[in-house]
Amino acid sequence: MRHVTLEQLFNEPTFQKYVCRSGLAHAIAVAENAFEIALKKNVNVDLAAKAGLLHDIGHYTWYHENGEWDYVQYRENDIHAIKGASRAHELLVRCGEDLRNAKQIAIAILLHTDSYLPEGTLHLEPLQKVVAEADTMDEEPGGLHHYRKIDKNEALKRIRKLDAKIDQCLISLSPIY
Ligand SMILES: [Fe+2]
Ligand SMILES: [Fe+2]
Repeated sequence: MRHVTLEQLFNEPTFQKYVCRSGLAHAIAVAENAFEIALKKNVNVDLAAKAGLLHDIGHYTWYHENGEWDYVQYRENDIHAIKGASRAHELLVRCGEDLRNAKQIAIAILLHTDSYLPEGTLHLEPLQKVVAEADTMDEEPGGLHHYRKIDKNEALKRIRKLDAKIDQCLISLSPIY
């Protein structure tokens, strides 16, 4: 049984404020990608979709006055993965997520990018790899994926569809006693 749905997360003011800031269309695309990759790789689809949906919740506004992102400032100062892991964890726990799940999702968000880490090779767990791969799949040159627009109704429709797919998947995987 799932403790929290994507739709519940979507309806939270924290989600609306921060995920919409970094690009709702990108967040939904990454959640959908993460679901598909997780399904193929036998990774928990619920955790993958949630981490995908929330992966950029930690973004700060690195905006010029014209509304464009300042990538020089961003590269120098960004810690969105750290902030996102903490923000997502708080949101998930508040919504009633299982604490073990909330931790796994938060760590996958923490490690979805290594742009803020010192040089080196990270050894990622399967869920963490799924989220990083799902994010990379949707990236566009110049960070254009953060600007892609999506209508709120269309966003909700896709989130509900993904929730239904996850439910379906978990039903078919659950053992019959
Ligand atoms: Fe990111
Ligand atoms: Fe991203």
